[in-house]
Amino acid sequence: MARIPDAFIDDLLARTDIVEVIGSRVPLKRQGKEYAARCPFHDERSASFTVSPTKQFYHCFGCGAHGTAISFLMNYDRLEFLDAVEELAKRNGMEVPRDTRQQNQNDDSRDLYAAMEASAKYFQRQLANSEKARAYLDGRGVDEHTRELFGIGYAPEGYSALKDALGTDPRRLALLERGGMFSKNDRGHVYDKFRDRVMFPIADRRGRTIAFGGRVLEKDDGPKYLNSPETPLFHKGRELYGLWQARQSNQKLERLIVVEGYMDVVSLFQFGVTEAVATLGTATTPDHAELLFRNAPDVYFCFDGDNAGRKAGWRALESALPRMKDGRQAFFLFLPDGEDPDTIVRKEGKDAFDARLRQATPLSQFFFDELSKEVNLATLDGKARLAERARPLLAQIPDGAFGDLMKQELARITGIGAQTPAPAPPVRVARALPNAGGKPSLVRSAIVRLLHSPSLALAVEPPYGFANLRHPGVELLVELLDIVQARPEISTGALLEHFAERDELAALQKLAMQQLPGEETHWRAELLDAVAQLEKQTLQQRLEELQAKHRETGLDEADKYELRALLQARATH
Ligand code: UTP
Ligand code: MN
Repeated sequence: MARIPDAFIDDLLARTDIVEVIGSRVPLKRQGKEYAARCPFHDERSASFTVSPTKQFYHCFGCGAHGTAISFLMNYDRLEFLDAVEELAKRNGMEVPRDTRQQNQNDDSRDLYAAMEASAKYFQRQLANSEKARAYLDGRGVDEHTRELFGIGYAPEGYSALKDALGTDPRRLALLERGGMFSKNDRGHVYDKFRDRVMFPIADRRGRTIAFGGRVLEKDDGPKYLNSPETPLFHKGRELYGLWQARQSNQKLERLIVVEGYMDVVSLFQFGVTEAVATLGTATTPDHAELLFRNAPDVYFCFDGDNAGRKAGWRALESALPRMKDGRQAFFLFLPDGEDPDTIVRKEGKDAFDARLRQATPLSQFFFDELSKEVNLATLDGKARLAERARPLLAQIPDGAFGDLMKQELARITGIGAQTPAPAPPVRVARALPNAGGKPSLVRSAIVRLLHSPSLALAVEPPYGFANLRHPGVELLVELLDIVQARPEISTGALLEHFAERDELAALQKLAMQQLPGEETHWRAELLDAVAQLEKQTLQQRLEELQAKHRETGLDEADKYELRALLQARATH
């Protein structure tokens, strides 16, 4: 994918009013120069969430959420990066620059989406025309509203109904084929893939149809469900059936319930459980787990109570473990024999289903129950075996309280080495940005000012004489200056974003949030002053080096020349 130039992003963020973007989604209260709100990313009573119009970023003192208008849209509206950029560009009447090759690709994929949408509409019309298909849905108790909400349709019998109706010219035929709507026989003849089936369109994160699942009407008519193949639009390990509807139906998703089938999702919705999604005939993948937790903090995995169900549950657990950051919870619900969510919710209703969810097994319990199954915990060997099995899995849990608790639990059960986590290594930047004796270092004071008003960097001209100074934080200061030289429009928020994956982030954030006394004109003078002093220290450092050399091995002509120049420079400074 072609990268969007940094300059465009900077310009876009400069023209975007982050207060307006966030304010239209979260009620903001003015507080001095900034705005405050209750954090939309974690539960809280107080208002730890601040938005700074001058720095063009948001920050939550409670949960550490932070970023630019772009990252806000990614996290709050759950958009992908490109979609968030597009959204802001649209608000500002800007065109996102792309190279022509990508433009063509865009046109192509637009047409592919259109072909899938046309197919969905076609199947819906066929449902209206088919007594038999409507009778089937009636028989399964799917009401009119639910049929519409999920865009359920019917693919007619015969081998070329869709092909004849929509594949009217070679280009459209080719698009439908790329969308996975046809099968091909040995002789290369193309025919409808879905025949005489109830059709469930699969929507992507923007509600666009990207694939289908089709169910037979009669029991013995081939495989019960047929899914679209992998296509440029559809990768089944990354999509969840019903996620679009769940997001449309809930202001904020507190939980998602993962079930196995299309009909389970549809029935749960119809009975008021509007947070159900299904994997598409596959096990829960790590991509699924990430998608689930990005959409809701609590995820319930719902399976049949039989052996196969517990196996599927374990696979889901394995996919979830590496995603179990603090604040996320996973639960497992195993249903009575012969039942699935569709049958249960019809029999018992929403409240009873909710009650089952409330009693679902927490991940931790399911984890130790399963691992303890074939080991005898009364013996040392059994305990060792359990620890052996558990450790590699526990190692996958991201650092945090949850992982620590799981390790403690293992220690409790086995009595083996309470594995207290080593104290976290001090973050590099704590050293990199010293604050000796409470008096802010020069480097620190320069960095704070740059963070508050990045364009100040333009007053400092490269090359930087102090770049060689052996002093904590100098490298970081040089990096910041370089970034702003290359991206003069960059905002504080975007500057921090540059460090999103780096150890220095937390410290930089803190500095950016500090109240900085005085005005920008003063900051400029203070920055230049700090830089001048750093240059002086650099001279001094070199002087001392040369003097040491003088004492130890003596100076050659070049050294002497440099020494004289340094002494002169020091005198005039
Ligand atoms: P089930 O057979 O449990 O489906 O398969 P279900 O939802 O209870 O079906 P109904 O109630 O009889 O209509 C669960 C899921 O596994 C996938 C489908 O995604 C289905 O929803 N599956 C099942 C297939 O992909 N192919 C099949 O042949 C069967
Ligand atoms: Mn079923």
